Amino acid sequence: MKICRVGDEVLRIPTPLVTDIDGALRETIAKMFYTMYVNKGVGLAANQVGISQKFFIVDLALSQVSSGRLILINPEPVSSVGSATEEEGCISVPGVTEPVKRAARVIFRGTDLDGNPAQIEAEGYLARVLQHEYDHLIGNLFLDRLSPLKRSFLYKKLKKKRLEEHW
Ligand code: NI
Repeated sequence: MKICRVGDEVLRIPTPLVTDIDGALRETIAKMFYTMYVNKGVGLAANQVGISQKFFIVDLALSQVSSGRLILINPEPVSSVGSATEEEGCISVPGVTEPVKRAARVIFRGTDLDGNPAQIEAEGYLARVLQHEYDHLIGNLFLDRLSPLKRSFLYKKLKKKRLEEHW
């Protein structure tokens, strides 16, 4: 699967809810895990591979903490507590990492791959990744959480890079 990058319209469109959890979705998710590992990511939202639907996958295997494979369909934030600022990057935003302030602890609710209600409580790195992936699904990028000055500088830089490298 091809990774969509900053400048691709699909990343900016809030994703509609998933209505059918079926074999096709399971197949898509299996392909997304493969794509995520190939690109050395720890999370991937459906619209990052051009699928405008509300679900994401996470596997922190490439970091120090292990989470196993997480899949959350139609996620919604339930609560968020505290704040933490850590360096963040995104496979849709090549070559950029910046400190991003996010909630320290979160609870997300959604549906699992069997169609059952699911709830994920997380802190630390996993909490950050869940918030990052949820942002994708509502059409946001981590760049949008930076100061206006830094954001506009980085958007200009990325636009130039995109033209030079023909994304
Ligand atoms: Ni991302």
